[in-house]
Amino acid sequence: MRLLIIGFGFIGKELVKALRGKIRLLREIDRDFMVVGAADSKGYIFDAGGLDVDGLSAINRLSEHQGYRAGGSASELINEDLCNVIVEATPTNIKDGEPGLTHIRLALSRGIHVVTPNKGPLVLAFRELTSIAERNSCDLLYEGTVAGAIPIFSLARECLRGDKIIRLSGILNGTTNYILSRMFFEETSFDIALKEAQEKGIAERDPSYDVDGVDAACKVVILANALMKRNAKIGDVERVGIRGVTQEAISLAKKANYAIKLIGTIDRRLEVAPKLVPINHPLCVHGTLNAIHIEMDLAGEITLVGYGAGKETVSAVLNDLITVLKRRSKQKH
Ligand SMILES: NC(=O)c1ccc[n+]([C@@H]2O[C@H](COP(=O)([O-])OP(=O)(O)OC[C@H]3O[C@@H](n4cnc5c(N)ncnc54)[C@H](OP(=O)(O)O)[C@@H]3O)[C@@H](O)[C@H]2O)c1
Repeated sequence: MRLLIIGFGFIGKELVKALRGKIRLLREIDRDFMVVGAADSKGYIFDAGGLDVDGLSAINRLSEHQGYRAGGSASELINEDLCNVIVEATPTNIKDGEPGLTHIRLALSRGIHVVTPNKGPLVLAFRELTSIAERNSCDLLYEGTVAGAIPIFSLARECLRGDKIIRLSGILNGTTNYILSRMFFEETSFDIALKEAQEKGIAERDPSYDVDGVDAACKVVILANALMKRNAKIGDVERVGIRGVTQEAISLAKKANYAIKLIGTIDRRLEVAPKLVPINHPLCVHGTLNAIHIEMDLAGEITLVGYGAGKETVSAVLNDLITVLKRRSKQKH
């Protein structure tokens, strides 16, 4: 397999570091595995014979690499069939999905497998992309799009194939969970907790994507479409963020042994809203942690807890890549 990494930001670089440490494992599955290219918004590096992953992991920007071709685009590399799997890790854009949507469409239509943590294309075009993948017999894996390192899609697809998921609920955004946790434990106001999250780099300067529940709603859409066969759009999610959650409400809830959490729910309705969660419920996790609670016809209830963002997300991307390598090496033999 020849891998092209599109996006050399936080995730792209963390992936290269992980690949460096796991290269033997990958080559045990596919002895021809190599990274042939990496692209950012202004150009790319490419070597048909394979890039030196050690060297790649030592640079901060692709333009520092001597082979950097400024002005080149990832689409060129995909179009010329120079790779057979891509990791698409460009910024999430939920307005039109770009540039990820174009990269993913193009790759799948050429029979190139896709691994991505980028929510935008999946939120906007889930059905379209999964059907292009099916038509062209290739993989489209997106474990990193929801709840970072928590392997929700793999678990449901591999280990719970015989179960029917009746309801899914979860803390799907680490930033809002951090803010609500500070309000719960330190008794600070929403404004102070938000400012602290911004100072720590947990929240963006414009926090609305997180605090108004948009990010959590994107994840609800992907979960509903991928695991519950819906055809949901972001507008189908009833959404209330956490701006209206007061310290008084949190204190009152706490006295009654509840915490207020921003919960995404998928049952008959799709919803993101602050909810009372009993403090001894497995979903009641704090700080930047995410949690997903699945209710099934056979297994009953299962809760998964883990990191929803940060370097741990690379686990999801790497394991998806390993899934692609394993499936293809099985086909070879
Ligand atoms: N960071 C996390 O913890 C996390 C967790 C889960 C999911 N994700 C998702 O993973 C994706 C990547 O996140 P990130 O944190 O790595 O973002 P990032 O640090 O902002 O990096 C994005 C990279 O994409 C590149 N890029 C932008 N437009 C491009 C184009 N047209 N062609 C090729 N490359 C292009 C950027 O290039 P320049 O360097 O030239 O600007 C940059 O290298 C996002 O969709 C994000 O939502 C991230």
